[in-house]
Amino acid sequence: MSKQPRSLWQETYSPPTFKPLHWGEKTKVLIIGGGIAGILTAYRLHQAGVPYILLEQGRILQGTTAHTTAKITSQHGLLYQKLLRREGMARARQYLSANEWAVGEYERLSREYPCDFRAEPHFVYSQKDENRLKREMDALAALGFEAEFCRELPLPIKTMGAVCFPHQASFHPLKFLGELARDLNIRENTHVLELQGTNAITERGGVHAEKIIVATHFPFINRHGGYFLRLYQHRSYLMALSGVKPMEGMYLDEDPLGMTFRSYKDLLLIGGGGHRTGKEGGNWAELRAFAAAHYPAAKEEYFWAAQDCMSLDQMPYIGQYGAHTEELLVASGFNKWGMTGAMIASRLLADRVMGKENEFQALFEPKGRLLRPKLILNALSSAAGLLNPSPKRCPHLGCALKWNKAEHSWDCPCHGSRFSSKGECLNNPANEDLYH
Ligand code: FES
Repeated sequence: MSKQPRSLWQETYSPPTFKPLHWGEKTKVLIIGGGIAGILTAYRLHQAGVPYILLEQGRILQGTTAHTTAKITSQHGLLYQKLLRREGMARARQYLSANEWAVGEYERLSREYPCDFRAEPHFVYSQKDENRLKREMDALAALGFEAEFCRELPLPIKTMGAVCFPHQASFHPLKFLGELARDLNIRENTHVLELQGTNAITERGGVHAEKIIVATHFPFINRHGGYFLRLYQHRSYLMALSGVKPMEGMYLDEDPLGMTFRSYKDLLLIGGGGHRTGKEGGNWAELRAFAAAHYPAAKEEYFWAAQDCMSLDQMPYIGQYGAHTEELLVASGFNKWGMTGAMIASRLLADRVMGKENEFQALFEPKGRLLRPKLILNALSSAAGLLNPSPKRCPHLGCALKWNKAEHSWDCPCHGSRFSSKGECLNNPANEDLYH
């Protein structure tokens, strides 16, 4: 077992490396951020012959993309009953179609970029509320989607059954993206300090572009879009166990505090123990207790944690960054479903910079999507962090940092920035270290 948290994906694949920016450059599209959304968007522009540069602050594919469970599915918890109620039939159907398109796109691309792609079903189970499962089945039937209801699951816990999406998939995300990135126009170790119009200022010179796409996990430009009010961050904990019979299918509890399961080769991945960043949660201790109770012969091979951006209406923000920033675009808020969300973002953003119409554009456009009660709650939570008198302050907007005992980091409860014990910035929206 590795002593430091390192994901199974990081331990079994090293992505290609790229040189830093060499002084100033000019291009049509600048993409900031070398995670899944940035790389897939760069790939589409590359295929279309559109000039672009992707800048990554450190090494590509080392953020949330390296820490996912890598489930490729359009089943996002029990979301469709909510979408149907709140957004209506046409928009709920569009959300489903966009995500189903993304699942198919991975299947197509995985033939070109081998990545241990495995077609398998995805299940959302409930331990206590069968009615919620039934309502989801009804919503899916109304949308014309053929889900299945299953009573028997190969899980070590008692459930009331599950809603199953039969044709979904899993893969090794870094193998897929690392190989796909090999020929792309990427500069690593190039930190964008600020944007001045469509000029990006880095410590290695500037890049002038006609359009800029911010794909930095949490959008780091504060003066447009108000993302620090419209997003919050969540941590989830994962481990890979050997010595357990691998299971067919991928499983998720409808309760946000429940567990997730999938296999990769002969390893079983379990996840849970999550909490809002900067708050307390079960973390790996909860997973270890679960493994000891249900898989006593298992050996812990890898353990790691993921940081996810959550939007207030549970749909990603993909499109124009702010109300008046036509040249500045964004992709964020994938709500833990970044595999399909990033694939959709790549298509929407590439179409947008090429001036092509896209049937899904309006659905994901950030503008105007303000759920006021949730916005107020999120703002109040941040205000509490601002008023806390702790001496350790976050360089993003000044909230009090909290010491995370499980991960030995300083975490910000306001918008989720994190810093190592030495002050190095681990997660944005902060764009600088703690002691600079
Ligand atoms: Fe915004 Fe800390 S992340 S104040």
